[in-house]
Amino acid sequence: MTESFDVVVIGGGVIGMTGAWRLAQTGRRVLLLERDRTGAEASSAAAGMLGAQLEVSEPGPFYQLCLESRSLYQAFVDELLEYTGVDAQLNHNGIYQIAFTQDEVHALHRRMEWQIRGGARAEFLSSTEVTNEEPIVAENYGALHLPDDSNINAPLLTRALSIAVTQTCTVVEGVEVTAVQRQSAAGYVISTQSQTYVAGAVVVAAGAWAQRLLPSSFPGKIQPVKGQLLAIRPRQATLKHTIFNDHAYLVPKRDGTIVVGATEDRGAGYNRDVTVDAIQYLLASVKRIAPRLCDAVFERSWIGLRPGSSDPHPWIGQLAASPGLHVAVGHFRNGILLAPVTANMLVDSVEGRPWPTHWQAFQPERPSVESGVTR
Ligand code: FAD
Ligand code: GLY
Repeated sequence: MTESFDVVVIGGGVIGMTGAWRLAQTGRRVLLLERDRTGAEASSAAAGMLGAQLEVSEPGPFYQLCLESRSLYQAFVDELLEYTGVDAQLNHNGIYQIAFTQDEVHALHRRMEWQIRGGARAEFLSSTEVTNEEPIVAENYGALHLPDDSNINAPLLTRALSIAVTQTCTVVEGVEVTAVQRQSAAGYVISTQSQTYVAGAVVVAAGAWAQRLLPSSFPGKIQPVKGQLLAIRPRQATLKHTIFNDHAYLVPKRDGTIVVGATEDRGAGYNRDVTVDAIQYLLASVKRIAPRLCDAVFERSWIGLRPGSSDPHPWIGQLAASPGLHVAVGHFRNGILLAPVTANMLVDSVEGRPWPTHWQAFQPERPSVESGVTR
């Protein structure tokens, strides 16, 4: 029997789950279809930085979107805690982008200047100030302090969202959507291996696997970008702030661990191996950035597949040529950060409400953007 819903959301990562939850809160009957378990992929693998200022290289709509989503986060995790009893452990610890060379100092000053001009808080700390705050960080030339960037515990966030969607939507796990076909002006047929569903609106939020569900007219190309991470538990001295340098980061979690990330491998496809090279690179980064952490206990290592795309920015909203078909794909390095604002955009998109100008830069039918992702 074919079941009918107002909206079918395909993909149970942070993007699909937050969107499904918000859509269900509007009173719609929402079905969430997940191939594996909800939160099984990139979303629970993430380092969980809310790096609105860290991860963006220039002012513009993407920076605005990141700041907007960061500003929604406290209320988002508070609501999830109240609703599900799970605390996603938002840590307002700020980020130090450390300089180990004079060139890095100059680049960080340029970043600080455009961010302050745009109204954000950012300050350059001397090496003495860095050492006073973070005594275990290696000798350095100072750091750009971004006090409003924070981090959450990504596995706990996905756990909270899993409970939220289970309570508000119909959730089916372990089913792979194989086709989405326009049935009529009234909606779509969504097929899995064993079942079909019909819905007036469909949201494709299938992370690094989204391409195969998108129509051939979709203007971008979604592809996996493998990242490897590890977690350590310091024995004594630890870090207060997230420390970032040259693609490597150390993110102190409220549970006492430090997440160390991350590699970025565009050629690995859907490969899931944890490799010697990657672990060596991550451990060398710990030694380079905070050598006194070398006696920390190695806890675990893992991989995640970022939903990368041919464009550095995500694609969000309705496809003009396919009314009722909405996408939320290509969040790449920032899907955790961008989940709350993406969900708001999806709700307005499904409800047919006009978007503010700065959201329009993320519509699928937009001019291609050349840059914008850091560093
Ligand atoms: P996913 O979490 O991958 O979810 C997509 C889901 O769709 C999956 O569960 C999959 O099983 C399901 N699916 C796929 N195809 C189908 C189908 N045909 N039918 C049914 N279900 C399907 N972001 C940040 O903001 N801050 C960070 O610090 C950060 N660090 C990161 C570090 C690493 C190493 C990695 C890999 C990512 C990091 N990210 C970070 C990025 C973030 O994890 C992603 O952008 C985000 O999780 C994407 O969410 P998603 O829901 O689009 O994808
Ligand atoms: N945003 C951190 C990462 O993707 O590695």
